[in-house]
Order: sequence, then C-alpha cells, then structure tokens
Amino acid sequence: MCGIVGYVGNQGNCVRVLIDGLKRLEYRGYDSAGIAYFNDGKVNLVKESGKLENLSNVIDVEKKSNLGIGHTRWATHGKADKCNAHPHKIGKFTIVHNGIIENYNVLKNKLIEKGYNFSSETDTEVICALLDYLYKTDKDILKCIRKLNEILDGSYALGIMCDDNPDELYAVKKNSPLIIGINDGENYIASDVPAILDKTKKHIVLEDKDYAKITKDTVNVYHDGKEKRVDVKSFEFDASSIDKQGYDHFMLKEIHEQPDVFKKTTNPYLSEDLDGLIEKMPDFSKYSKIRIIACGSATHAGLIGKQMIERYANVETLVDTASEFRYNKQFLNDDELVIVVSQSGETADTLEALKIAKKNGNDTLGIINEKGSSIAREAKIVLYTEAGKEIAVATTKAYSAQVAMLSLIALNISYSKNLVNKKEIAEILKDAKSLPTHMEELLQNEEVYKEIANQIKEYNDVFFIGRSLDYALAMEGSLKLKEISYTHSEAYAAGELKHGTISLIEEGTPVVAIVTDDNVASKTISNIKEVKSRGANVIYITNRNDEEDQTFYDSKIMVPKVNDLFSPLLTVIPLQMIAYELAKLKGCNIDKPKNLAKSVTVE
Ligand code: F6R
Repeated sequence: MCGIVGYVGNQGNCVRVLIDGLKRLEYRGYDSAGIAYFNDGKVNLVKESGKLENLSNVIDVEKKSNLGIGHTRWATHGKADKCNAHPHKIGKFTIVHNGIIENYNVLKNKLIEKGYNFSSETDTEVICALLDYLYKTDKDILKCIRKLNEILDGSYALGIMCDDNPDELYAVKKNSPLIIGINDGENYIASDVPAILDKTKKHIVLEDKDYAKITKDTVNVYHDGKEKRVDVKSFEFDASSIDKQGYDHFMLKEIHEQPDVFKKTTNPYLSEDLDGLIEKMPDFSKYSKIRIIACGSATHAGLIGKQMIERYANVETLVDTASEFRYNKQFLNDDELVIVVSQSGETADTLEALKIAKKNGNDTLGIINEKGSSIAREAKIVLYTEAGKEIAVATTKAYSAQVAMLSLIALNISYSKNLVNKKEIAEILKDAKSLPTHMEELLQNEEVYKEIANQIKEYNDVFFIGRSLDYALAMEGSLKLKEISYTHSEAYAAGELKHGTISLIEEGTPVVAIVTDDNVASKTISNIKEVKSRGANVIYITNRNDEEDQTFYDSKIMVPKVNDLFSPLLTVIPLQMIAYELAKLKGCNIDKPKNLAKSVTVE
C-alpha cells in the first residue's frame, strides 16, 4: 500500500535519497509516485502516475536539497493519476499521507466555505488546507499538528513540510505505521523499514497520535502537548531478503525459502521432545474456545489452524475474516483466546479486530512476522514467525510460517492436556525433521508445474476443490492463482459442487483437486469423479498411493505423506508453483500484481 519516505540532512542529496527510498518501497504496491523538496528555500513538487520510473525520468537527482518528502500512492480517494498523486500542497503546507481520513468530506466543505480550493479528489489535500487554516490563527506548527489529531477521523501517517521552516520536517501518525530513522547529521521518516535500511539501523517507532519535529541534528517527539521520552531501537534486518539472489522473481525466491523458514519457525520449540512447546510458549490449554481472526491468506492459514487445533487439542476453534468480524455482532466468550494472524502486523482490519477483542477483555495472541509492528505491539502475547522480510506481494513463505506456528499451538495444547502419546510424539518429531527435505523435493518438480500451467493457460476459469484441510488449501491455491495470474478461479468445498457450481464444468475445465486428508479422501474422490464425468481436466494433488484407480484424473502430483500437522506445508508448494508458472506464462507482473498492495493499512 502507500509508502512514505522523508529526509532532512546536510549533504544536499535529498532528491536521490527520496527516490532510492521509494524504490525500496515499490514492493508494497502503488500506482503513482511523487516527491517534494526544498531547493533555495522554495518547495519543488514533482509527481507522475504509474511506475516510479516515470517519476525518475522527469527528476534531476543531482538537484541540491536538504529536506524533502516522497510517496508512492495506492489509490483510495480518486483515480490513480498525476493530479491525485502525493505530495499535495495547499498554502504553506506540503504533505504525504498514508491512510484514509473518514471525515474528509465534512472538513472539505467547511474549508471551501473558508475560501480554500481543491484540485484533487484526495482526502490528503484536505489535511493540507486544514493545517494551513489552523496555522493562520496560531503560528505554532506543533500546536496545529496536535489539533489535527483532535479533528481528523480515520487513519493517517503524515510527512509534513512547511514553507516557513525549510530545515524542519514534521511527522504524525494514527493507525498507520511511521518510523523515524536516526543518523549523524541526517534523519528520516519512513512508513516501512526497507525505505531507509541502507542508511541507518537506528530508529524510533511512533505510537498513535505521536507527532514529531525533526531537523538534521534533532528529533523531538510529542504526545498531547508534552514532549515524550522515546526509545531508539536498532533494526534486525537481513539485507539479503531485499535481493532476488539470482531468482527471476522475489516470489520464486520466497517459495524456495520455505524449507529454511520452517526450520527457523519451529526449531526453537521442537527439540528432542515437545517440552520446548510448553517451556517457550505460554500454555494455551486453559481456553475453552479459540477464535482466529485475519485477512486473505492469513485467514486461509487460520482455517488450517482450526482443523489442527480441533483435531489435536480438542478445542472448538472459529475463524473470522477481520473485515467482517469488526462490524458483525460479536459473541466473544470471556475465556476465549483470540488469535490474530498477520504477516505485516499492520493490516488495518486485523488490528481493529484485535482492539475489539482487547476491549472485551479477551486474551489476545498475535502470530506476526514483522517484528515490532502495530499488531505485535497491541497483542497481549506475540509469537513471531521467522519468515524474514517478504517482498513479493503474494504471500508464500509467511503463509506457511503462519500454518507452522498454528500447528505448534495445536501441539502445545495437545501436549499439555496429555492428548498425544509417546509414539505419536516421536512420529511428529520425525516428520518435522524430514519436512524441509520433502519441501526441497517438491521444489524440484518445476517441469511438472510448467506443464500444468500450460494446460490451464487457455482457460478463463479454474476450480480448486477439496474437503476439510484440503478445502482450506484449495482456497489458498485459488487466491494465489487469481492474484498473480489474473485467471479467475473458485475454491469449492468438494461436497458443495453439486449444489450449484458443477453446472460450470465443461469439456476441459481445469479442476485442481486436492486429496491429502485421510478423514475425507474417499468422499472427495467421489466428488472428483462427478466433475471428471462432466468433462473436467482434473489435476490431482495427493499424498495417496491409490494406483488401483487412475480413471478420475488427468495429471497427478504426488506430495510426500507426513503427519496432518505438517502436510499442508507440502501440499501448498505445488499450488504456489502452478500459480507462479501460469503468471509467468501470461507475462504478468508476478511480484507486484496490479491493484494489490503488500501491506493493507486501510480498511
Ligand atoms: C495474498 C496475501 C494477502 C494477505 C492479507 C493479510 O497472497 O498476501 O491476502 O495475506 O492481505 O496480510 P497480513 O498477513 O499482512 O495481515
């Protein structure tokens, strides 16, 4: 989603710093970009629609400047054109903004009455006018920014420049992340770590409604009119994660990182026995019910978690999509554990759902990838997945790390309730050990995935079917295919087909049928036969050796048989790879699919 970078220093290289920073934020997804910078005391504003390249082409990076702000915009209010691109300037204030101002229309009408004119459709321009208006009556910028916090509804991270103070950069945030990077003789603001990672590791994380005045040598952070003591932290960040390291795409690199991610995520808890699960994790066995809340692929991980927790720990587990949960009538039991799952830790709906659960008094657990993110800071307990930075917009390694962590939670409860016996424990540990090797084996089958992608590329619709665990996987496979290859697809509970969807099956319709869950395998196979007999081209993904009947599928991808707890981590690999190969065949922008953003910080 939108990205912010800001700089104040003394080397005169502000324009280059801003463009470099924006390049590093490209992965978040955007559709226009712009920068504003002081040059000889005057604000220069340059913006372009489309890719950052369009902006770089019209900018002289050698232009001397010591202070500026830059933005990549993912359109919310108004089309993705140059006029709506940030920064916006009205009166003395130039602003870049991430988030959505909910009361912008009311404010806009009031400001029009006061004589302000607006040239864009954005909510951001309204903030510029409002700040300019406040500043006319009180020349204290910090007081004016504090007032903004009282007036604006919604979410915002703002980088602010004022014509009167060419040496000062201002920042404020609410419900949208913003950090301040600290260095000798220069300081930064950024919405996301990579923007400034090559410049400094030292940073301050702003809390909601914090606002700051930043010069090249000083950073002052305020809250509600008072200066605040802040911790300067250091990023732990592996710079290799923002390098493709020889792979064609970040997505492919990240798919290949899954064996390593599995080890990193599970090793701290799985040693010679399962004791680590109760020593290094809180005991989750006291809850009578568990609710998993997330968005997109993280919800799909939650659906697998539900199956694991219910099967292994015998605890009822509900899964909610955060954007629905927050506006539904809620029935949270007092002794219910609410688990929020998020790679970025910044997803607006998931964060809000977490706040609702906290307000209700529930214990909350965040399964988060981004250390120190908003959701990680808000949740009572945090378990970090160790996927490292995920750059491709479509999640792969972070999704599988979420699944792995949910399996560990199922095992934590099961072990602490004595629901698994010694023999099962030994098998589980053996499977966990062999899983990375099995993952590697599946990653070798590139030609098979290419061949399947070739078969389905002429079709406009692809179906993914499965039951239970395999249905949750079908949803993830279908989402991956849709988002990166722009091929329409549906995930269906195999038993539901005959209640409507089967009417869409025609000669050659690709149906990816997943059968790895023994509990329902024979039932799903009956459903596969129903689509096969209506002409479907069945791509069968399974861990079963049912050689006696080969009539119900056209192609078969074998995944190694392991314990249910880890089996989805194998099955998902062919699904990710088929989507990847199809997107590649179709020439799609795999790492940055159109209209999508990496971190969805607006609801
Ligand atoms: C799909 C995808 C999204 C995210 C969703 C939640 O490939 O990446 O569906 O899973 O936007 O994001 P996080 O996990 O950051 O909360």
